Amino acid sequence: MSKSPNIFIPALGGTALIIGLAYGIASRDYGAGKIEILETRVQQVEAQASVASEKASAESERAAELEQMIAEVQAAAAERVSSEADLTTPAPRTGGSYGIGRAAHSEEIAVWDVDVLPNGRGLPVGSGNAFDGEEIFADKCASCHGDFAEGVDNWPVLAGGFDTLADEDPVKTVGSYWPYLSTAYDYIYRSMPFGEAGTLTPDETYAIVAYILYSNDLIDDEFDLSQANLGSFEMHNKDGFVVDDRPEQEYAKWREEPCMENCKEEVHVTMRSVFLVETPPESGSNSVMNHASAEGLPSFTSEGPSFIPVAVAKPTKQDEANAAPAVQETETEDEGVDLIAAGKKVFRKCQACHKVGDGAKNASGPQLNGLVGRTMGSTDDFKYSGVFLAAMEEGRVWDEAALAEFLAKPKSYMKGTKMAFSGLKKEADITAVTEYLKSFGE
Ligand code: HEC
Ligand code: HEC
Repeated sequence: MSKSPNIFIPALGGTALIIGLAYGIASRDYGAGKIEILETRVQQVEAQASVASEKASAESERAAELEQMIAEVQAAAAERVSSEADLTTPAPRTGGSYGIGRAAHSEEIAVWDVDVLPNGRGLPVGSGNAFDGEEIFADKCASCHGDFAEGVDNWPVLAGGFDTLADEDPVKTVGSYWPYLSTAYDYIYRSMPFGEAGTLTPDETYAIVAYILYSNDLIDDEFDLSQANLGSFEMHNKDGFVVDDRPEQEYAKWREEPCMENCKEEVHVTMRSVFLVETPPESGSNSVMNHASAEGLPSFTSEGPSFIPVAVAKPTKQDEANAAPAVQETETEDEGVDLIAAGKKVFRKCQACHKVGDGAKNASGPQLNGLVGRTMGSTDDFKYSGVFLAAMEEGRVWDEAALAEFLAKPKSYMKGTKMAFSGLKKEADITAVTEYLKSFGE
């Protein structure tokens, strides 16, 4: 609608101008011929003006039409928006449910519902004895818990420790401490072997639990443990727990306002955790007691520490480089040097358990200096598994071929080894790590 006046103004304006011009010229008494020409011209312009006005009115009609269409589209859009708002309003309820999902199948529930109660409720059907359990335990558990459940390094001990519970350092094991056998079944079935949880069958679990009882001298190796008798098995420490009545008996005694500020004249630090236990360098399995004393440490008063110890300088990159094992760098042995460097990288997989180089000590695995040419299982002071002790007695010696076979599949080359390592898959890695180990002579 708004378009039409804009179109009219130039058209009518033009006409008025020319008519005005025509009268002006006529009054100056030009010749009649000229007036005629001008009259024709005025008629022409008037005709043009009427065409223009027709055109303008047609255009204004078109504009009105378009505006009508826009209004229709906008109305439709508005309707859409208001109907989309309905999507967020709750669906109508039918028969008291939303009609989403389905009832769980009993098989699905069974997979989740694995907990076992002290009285044995929840145990799956199955059985096993210590005789069978011994083999499974050696295969799946002994690398960490020891052949006789005695624990390797700092991995948990599962057997023994009877009558130590009142000691300063109680040895809490399945045998000495756990009040119910159901916990052993439940825990092992759900979470062991560490890192491979959920791989044991019920029969294997019964056999393993039987073997742990056997290692604790609680049953003989023919005792058949099953869902029928596990719940009623009486554990050594079944009466060693008391009901926690501290809320009634003790909390009242501690109800005084606690002191939060300047409560003690002087605080004296007797030991720092960094001095107490040496954090193991790589793996978590060989932390060591550190017998350093607190002498020379600052004491603390409300004024602050008596002095601030000077930090020991950190080793610089240069020091570290100097401390790295010397690698032969003759030009003719370039290839060997590359191999040793590659082997050093592969050895990262071994480092958590094995040390090499000057003063290397046994860690959770034996030190590996001078390995090629060394008798198997012969490092002083290392507690080897039976298969390694046997190899030593036979006088077997590590050569490159034996090492390659062992490193490819430790558990099949040395059946029963406690080296918890699945093996190196790439031959190139084996060659490289062997070359690296060879660079550490004696
Ligand atoms: C790779 C090492 C490893 C292997 C293999 C392994 N465990 Fe364990 N086990 C552990 C660690 C670590 C813990 C302690 C876990 C924790 O406290 O969270 C543990 C804890 C346990 C405990 C609880 C001990 C306690 O007193 O709290 C039992 C029982 C046990 N394991 C049994 C087994 C059995 C049976 C197997 C073989 C089927 C097995 N483990 C295999 C590392 C291992
Ligand atoms: C999780 C710890 C662990 C890792 C990782 C590990 N080892 Fe071992 N290794 C051991 C233990 C434990 C033994 C002793 C085995 C036994 O007594 O059964 C051993 C034994 C050995 C031996 C025999 C030494 C001797 O004195 O006869 C060699 C060789 C060896 N490992 C090489 C390697 C190499 C190479 C790697 C890396 C590619 C590696 N190991 C990774 C724990 C480990």
